[in-house]
Amino acid sequence: MAGRSTRDWSPRDIPALDGRTAVVTGGNGGIGLATARELAAHGARVVLACRSEARGAAAGDRLVTEVPGALVEVLRLDLADLGSVRAFAETFPYGRLDLLVNNAGVMALPYGTTADGFETQFGVNHLGHFALTGLLLPRLLATPGARVVTVSSPAHLMGNIDIRDLNSERRYRRWTAYARSKSANLLFTHELARRLAARGADVTAAAAHPGYADTGLQAAGPRMAGNRTGERLAHLGNRLFAQPATAGALPVLYAATAPGVRPDSFTGPAFLDWRGAPAPARRAPWTTDDRASALLWEHSARLTGVDPEALKP
Ligand SMILES: NC(=O)c1ccc[n+]([C@@H]2O[C@H](COP(=O)([O-])OP(=O)(O)OC[C@H]3O[C@@H](n4cnc5c(N)ncnc54)[C@H](OP(=O)(O)O)[C@@H]3O)[C@@H](O)[C@H]2O)c1
Repeated sequence: MAGRSTRDWSPRDIPALDGRTAVVTGGNGGIGLATARELAAHGARVVLACRSEARGAAAGDRLVTEVPGALVEVLRLDLADLGSVRAFAETFPYGRLDLLVNNAGVMALPYGTTADGFETQFGVNHLGHFALTGLLLPRLLATPGARVVTVSSPAHLMGNIDIRDLNSERRYRRWTAYARSKSANLLFTHELARRLAARGADVTAAAAHPGYADTGLQAAGPRMAGNRTGERLAHLGNRLFAQPATAGALPVLYAATAPGVRPDSFTGPAFLDWRGAPAPARRAPWTTDDRASALLWEHSARLTGVDPEALKP
């Protein structure tokens, strides 16, 4: 990992971001909100891309109160609906985009499908962000030094994508589907970095993960399944073992703002991929496989109808 030692990296090390524009998906809660807060505190204009207008507005109000002078906007984005992803990109009000944080996510939900018929975790965590990045690409390419940071998870180590069953149509296991979607996040970063390099683009694609952080992520699945005990256990686990969302956001902020972050790097908390300062994260070998990443890109382009001309080999 380039730059200064990351062991004592903290938000104080974030450079001034005045004049920069950032989009944070799922910016209304958890890691996204903590990330957005620091970006805004360092001068960036931050767009919270949220599926719920009410939750987005509440988060925006909170940021403006907590960070005097914060430049925060809320725009609607439902990653489970490609129509919403297209509308977001088409109406995005800025010509340049310095930072796209593909953060929003869902974990281990009961089986469900997106508006376009994709399995929800694959659809939201990967395909929605794939389409969003492709549609915002002209703005990223127009912005020297732009970055795309995609938020994965140590859970990716539990499973590689199945290219013949991307939507878990043969068999659905909620944790396997989550692991696969998080492997897809890393394969996407790998392929995006390769295609940007082939074009000589001044845009860096990197990945990060927050370790185990106390957010809304863990209880959502049990709640959707009507599993009250599971929901209580998720909250208890978070209270006992998780780090706060502000700490979980550090690797994301590092990948987003530290000088010298390498393309296709993967940053997570230093201690056991669980908590602590940003450091290179453990990564499954299948997430840097050129053939697999190219195949996933082709399938994702076909499924979403988004295939950026500028990044065609
Ligand atoms: N927390 C951890 O320990 C942990 C560990 C490893 C990786 N991660 C990753 O960190 C990222 C952030 O998760 P978190 O922990 O901050 O969870 P969180 O508190 O549940 O936040 C997830 C965010 O994603 C949004 N979201 C969900 N579905 C969406 C959709 N269809 N369209 C747009 N936004 C949507 C949520 O919106 P609503 O508020 O409307 O639901 C929320 O803002 C995820 O990618 C997750 O996989 C988290």
